[in-house]
Amino acid sequence: MSNQADLIVGLQWGDEGKGKIVDHMAQTHDYVCRFAGGHNAGHTIVVGEEKIALHLIPSGVLNPDAKNIVGNGVVLSPVDFIEEMSQFDDLEGRLFISDKAHLLLPYHAAIDQARERMKGDKAIGTTGKGIGPAYGDKVARVGHRVGELHHPRKLADKIMDYFSMNAPVFAAMGVETPDAQELYHELLEYREVLEPYITDTTLLVQKALEEGKRVLLEGAQGTMLDIDHGTYPYVTSSTTISAGACSGLGLSPKEIGRVTGIAKAYCTRVGNGPFPSEDHGEAGQRLRDRGHEYGTTTGRARRCGWFDAVAMRHAVRINGVDQVALMKLDVLDGFEEIKVCVGYEFEGREIDYVPYDLEEVQPVYRIFKGWKRSEGARNFEELPEAAREYIGALEEMIGCRIGIISTSPEREDTIVRR
Ligand code: GDP
Ligand code: IMO
Ligand code: MG
Repeated sequence: MSNQADLIVGLQWGDEGKGKIVDHMAQTHDYVCRFAGGHNAGHTIVVGEEKIALHLIPSGVLNPDAKNIVGNGVVLSPVDFIEEMSQFDDLEGRLFISDKAHLLLPYHAAIDQARERMKGDKAIGTTGKGIGPAYGDKVARVGHRVGELHHPRKLADKIMDYFSMNAPVFAAMGVETPDAQELYHELLEYREVLEPYITDTTLLVQKALEEGKRVLLEGAQGTMLDIDHGTYPYVTSSTTISAGACSGLGLSPKEIGRVTGIAKAYCTRVGNGPFPSEDHGEAGQRLRDRGHEYGTTTGRARRCGWFDAVAMRHAVRINGVDQVALMKLDVLDGFEEIKVCVGYEFEGREIDYVPYDLEEVQPVYRIFKGWKRSEGARNFEELPEAAREYIGALEEMIGCRIGIISTSPEREDTIVRR
């Protein structure tokens, strides 16, 4: 009987702790598939003493029995992918890259950085990895797909043509034209390493589901960074919400089963753009320190603030979330009071939805009593009463069950509620 895939999606501005939950669920899945984003993503997984940072390779790589798929919705930087691959020595036969994924090449990063420089104080605060330009080329139909690596000579010629066509623009941005011969040799190298992994991954996933295999779809970034539904233009350039899993892998909506949305018990954001429940004071700094809120990809300090129940309700709805995994509850340990944003003040009145421009709103807070210690709890009853009350109130506000609670970076410190 044909199976449906389980889906994991970030509900805030990224870095919710998706990696830990994907790793947890990967232990019981046969396939783990990335469907969007590129090496702007950074997922940290802690196994015992070891800390593993993944950017492009699906987090299922840590389960030796799971097969890992990089779907067509991903933008793939061969240099960075190859470097990430070098951490593992047993990837053949359990890593597959879609021939329809788009290539992210060094000039995309150069364009990304030049654009950010030119924007000055209006910069998006991108990771500078070239994500926007790579997706931009894809949509403008001047991008290159991974499948083109099979013919490096032809691909090198096409890239050189692209540079001649855009010469004046690139000169103004300070983006250097590659040397044709060097480019060809680089592409040859990429082909040599990557060719054994390149395949039609749509067929592969569909076949897996048909055979009743358990498939896990791993989202990157978060809902509020979605190109359509996030805080545009302060977003990333891909469809990060659950709908992106269909186009980013070649699945129909009917093949998506249970959706688990990942959210921190508070909220963070890296880069610029609106963040209504941001705390610029002592509490924000304390969240940053206790939560080690520094980026896996760029090392930047994350902006910190309180759980935003309004944005979360929006995220639960547009992703079709069946259960929420509430992460980093332990980071709130020791706070006297915990705030939750329960509404926005907008144009002189209080609203309970996400408006066109979040820049214009002020948060309305409800205050909860804090608790001493939740760290390391492995079942719900172990949690302090105030923490259980906090979780119950969040469930009511966001209209979704919190089925998983995480109380430390460790695999085992995870509460799964029946
Ligand atoms: P992702 O991008 O959504 O996968 O999240 P990141 O890996 O960028 O950031 C989450 C960070 O929080 C990682 O360093 C995790 O090890 C850590 N983490 C995950 N769950 C918990 C938790 O319950 N408690 C604490 N203290 N840290 C956690
Ligand atoms: P994971 O998968 C947090 C943010 C950047 C910037 C904006 C655009 O680890 O949750 P981009 O380089 O994508 O053009 O940058 O998006 N951003 C993330 N923030 N977690 C991520 O991924 C992110 N990926 C992109 O900081 O604000
Ligand atoms: Mg991250």
